[in-house]
Amino acid sequence: MDRFVVRGGARLAGTVSVSGAKNSVLKLMAAALLAEGTTVLANVPDILDVTVMGEVLRRLGCDVVRGKATVSITVPEMPGHEADYDLVRRIRASIAVLGPLVARCGEAKVALPGGDAIGSRGLDMHVAGLIKLGASVVSEHGYLIARAPRLVGAAVWLDFPSVGATENLLMASALAQGTTIIDNAAREPEIVDLCVMLQRMGAHIGGLGTSTLEVQGVEALHPVEHHTVPDRIVAGTWAVAAVMTRGDVTVLGGRPEHLEMPLDKLAQAGAVVEPLEGGFRVAMDRRPTAVDLVTLPYPGFATDFQPLFLGLNTVAEGTSMITENVFESRWMFVNELVRLGADVRTDGHHAVVRGREQLSGAPVTAHDIRAGAGLVLAGLVADGVTEVADVHHIDRGYEGFVEKLVALGAVVRRETAPVEPWLG
Ligand code: UD1
Repeated sequence: MDRFVVRGGARLAGTVSVSGAKNSVLKLMAAALLAEGTTVLANVPDILDVTVMGEVLRRLGCDVVRGKATVSITVPEMPGHEADYDLVRRIRASIAVLGPLVARCGEAKVALPGGDAIGSRGLDMHVAGLIKLGASVVSEHGYLIARAPRLVGAAVWLDFPSVGATENLLMASALAQGTTIIDNAAREPEIVDLCVMLQRMGAHIGGLGTSTLEVQGVEALHPVEHHTVPDRIVAGTWAVAAVMTRGDVTVLGGRPEHLEMPLDKLAQAGAVVEPLEGGFRVAMDRRPTAVDLVTLPYPGFATDFQPLFLGLNTVAEGTSMITENVFESRWMFVNELVRLGADVRTDGHHAVVRGREQLSGAPVTAHDIRAGAGLVLAGLVADGVTEVADVHHIDRGYEGFVEKLVALGAVVRRETAPVEPWLG
C-alpha cells in the first residue's frame, strides 16, 4: 500500500528516457503463444503488468525469464489453455491470450475480467469475431470458453475500432484456414507493432496501420526476437509534466509521429514542441492556455491522455470542455482533483474545467494508471504537499516514475504506508 508524497513548486528540466509500451508488450507476450520455442522481446518496461502477464504465461506452461529490458518466453509444443480469475482480474490485458490459445490449442478458457475503475469494458466484439471465425464460445461459471478444432478465415466488421478485439482477432486469424478481413480495425501504433511481430513470425498480414486488415492464415508460426515500440502514453505524460511545471524536458525514445494530436494540443496551450533526433523537447515559460479535447480511437486524441490533460486544464488560463467518447465512466479521478481545489464539473460524456491559478496539496487516491499519474502531476503544481495513495496502479504502467521525476528536479518520494492497526 505505497503512496507518493509530492511537494509542489518544482520546475521539471532535463532529459528522460521512455521504454517500451505497456499496451504493446503485453500483447506481444500473448502472441508468443502462437509459436513453439523461445521468443525474445526487447525494450520491455520494468513494470508490474509485465510481471503479472509473465505469471499468466507461466501458468500456461511457458518458461518466462526476465532480463535487463528483455523477456524471453519459451512455449511448449502444447501450452495449457486456462487463465484463471485470480490473475485475469489483476490484468485485464490477459484477455489477449484468448485468440492465440484457441488458434493454437483448439480451446481457450479465460476468466471474465469483471469491471474496473474506468468503465464496463465489454468483450462482445472479441466473442462475435471469434464466432465469425468458426469458434463456439460460451460463458460459464465466470469463464469465457472458446473452442474450434481449426479456425476458418472470415470477414469481420467491428462495431467500434476496439484495440483488444482487433488484437485478439489478428492473433487468432494468423493461424486460421484461409483469409480473414478485419474491418473497422483499431489503428494504434501498438497494433502495428503486433502486426510487425506476427509478420516476422511468418504471418501474412496486409493493411498495417489502416482500418482494414487482411490476414492470410498459415499452418504454423515460428518464434522471433522483437523490439517493443516506445510507450507513447508515457512519453506524452512527460510532455504534459513539462508544460504544467513550466519546465523544459527532452523525452528520449518518444516518437513525435505517434503523438501528433497531444503535442499539437500542448503547442496550442503555449508550449514550444521541438522534434529531435531520437525524441522531442517540450518547453513552457508561462501559464498554459486551456485546450478543448475530444477522445477518439487512434489517430484521434487517446483516452489514456484525458486524465493528464484534464489535470493540465485545471491550472490553465480559461475554461475548457473535455469530451470522453471511449470509456463511459472515466471521471472517477475528478473527485480527487476537486480535493486539490480543481474546478471541474462532469455531465455524461463531458467535463467542463475552469482553470485555477493554483491547486492546493491534499491526500488523494489513484484509481487507475493514468489517473494516478495525472494526480502526481497535479501535485507537482499544487501548493504544499500532495499524498497520492494506491500507487500500485501507477507501478502497473510507469517504470521508475519517482526516480525519473526526481532526476528532473521534482520533490517526490515513495512511502510505504504502515498497516492500519485494526487490520493487524
Ligand atoms: C486498450 C488499452 C487502454 C486504452 C484503450 C483505448 C491495453 C492493455 N489497454 O484497452 O489503455 O485506453 O485500448 O485506447 O492495450 N468494447 C466493447 N466491447 C468489446 C471491446 C471493447 O464494448 O468487445 C468497448 C469498451 O468497453 C470501451 C471501448 O470499447 O468502451 C474501447 O475498448 P478497447 O479499444 O477494446 O480497449 P482495451 O483493449 O480494453
